Amino acid sequence: MDTRISVADSDITFPCAPGETVLDAAERAGYAVPYSCRKGVCASCEGHLVAGEGRSPVQGTVVAPAERALLCCLRPDTDLTIAPRRIERRDPVARRTLDASVYRITQPAADVSILQLRLPAGVRAKFRAGQYLQIELEDGTRRNYSMANAPHENDSVQLHVRHVPGGRFSEGMLGRIAKGDKLRIELPFGEFTLREGSDRPAVLLATGTGFAPVKSIVEDAIKRRLERPLHLYWGARRAEDLYLTALAQKWHDSGRVKFVPVLSEADEAWTGRHGFVHEAVLEDFASLAEYEVYACGNPSMTSAARGTFVKAGLPEDNFFSDAFVHTG
Ligand SMILES: Cc1cc2nc3c(=O)[nH]c(=O)nc-3n(C[C@H](O)[C@H](O)[C@H](O)COP(=O)(O)OP(=O)(O)OC[C@H]3O[C@@H](n4cnc5c(N)ncnc54)[C@H](O)[C@@H]3O)c2cc1C
Ligand code: FES
Repeated sequence: MDTRISVADSDITFPCAPGETVLDAAERAGYAVPYSCRKGVCASCEGHLVAGEGRSPVQGTVVAPAERALLCCLRPDTDLTIAPRRIERRDPVARRTLDASVYRITQPAADVSILQLRLPAGVRAKFRAGQYLQIELEDGTRRNYSMANAPHENDSVQLHVRHVPGGRFSEGMLGRIAKGDKLRIELPFGEFTLREGSDRPAVLLATGTGFAPVKSIVEDAIKRRLERPLHLYWGARRAEDLYLTALAQKWHDSGRVKFVPVLSEADEAWTGRHGFVHEAVLEDFASLAEYEVYACGNPSMTSAARGTFVKAGLPEDNFFSDAFVHTG
């Protein structure tokens, strides 16, 4: 029998099918709540459980009142009242599972591959800039990768994959696949997208392959002629880790994006900024009160950025992130 989920201090209510998570039920009913990994790791979906009781493979039995219920994993045992960080109306998600074929694999840095997948003939990918897809591995498990292309380039998807030592996909399967091979993907997922209707200047903050969704967001903004100021800070250890720096520099030279590369282990030849990428932002902005920040990549960076930026005046609701936590 369905249970009913109510959202505290609102008239929003929706049904949850047996075995369904609160996040899945909300999406099915046409509501968006913040999330990223959908695996109980990143805490983006954390909300208050105000009334009721549920279960989660990550948190065990969760009984109200509970401050930190992970809505992506929580399956209700009773009717629930929840208070998510944010909830907004959204068209019910139209996700598709597709067999895409490998079109090209290049390696712009020692530990990064760019994987271009072609969709079946006549099929178009529908997603918003900054969202991600899931690749199904041979063992049935899935890995999340952000689309690096803009949504208008919709007959293929481009993924930027960092090689994780011992990684089943990024070191294993990725090394074995070749042009023409098929990969099963499902898309779109994610809430790491520029807020529609906002004209606040945005700080885009990336480490490593966190550049992928940022590339999609910037290329989409250029295509749609959005006029919001965009400040891109891309951090890495060494210069060679900024694997598409010429592209980011081109945006900068065109005047559309202010690009600031930041290295934490630069050699003497480096004349640019040193240190951690989020600290460079703090040095450059006296106040973040009027900005939105979009941070993506290393989970330590996204978490440090959230904490320090909020202390520096950024309204917490104006911080959006995709932490690239382990999805295997
Ligand atoms: C929303 C989202 C979007 C993502 N987008 C991208 C993307 O665009 N590009 C990208 O490169 N990655 C991205 N990731 C991470 C990606 O989904 C995989 O987790 C990662 O590529 C490792 O998968 P694997 O199969 O190679 O390693 P696995 O076989 O899953 O793991 C192998 C070993 O490495 C460890 N490990 C796994 N991941 C990491 C890590 N990140 N840091 C340190 N140790 C790790 C594991 O604990 C395990 O011991 C994203 C994650 C999320 C949540
Ligand atoms: S913990 Fe729920 S989305 Fe990451």
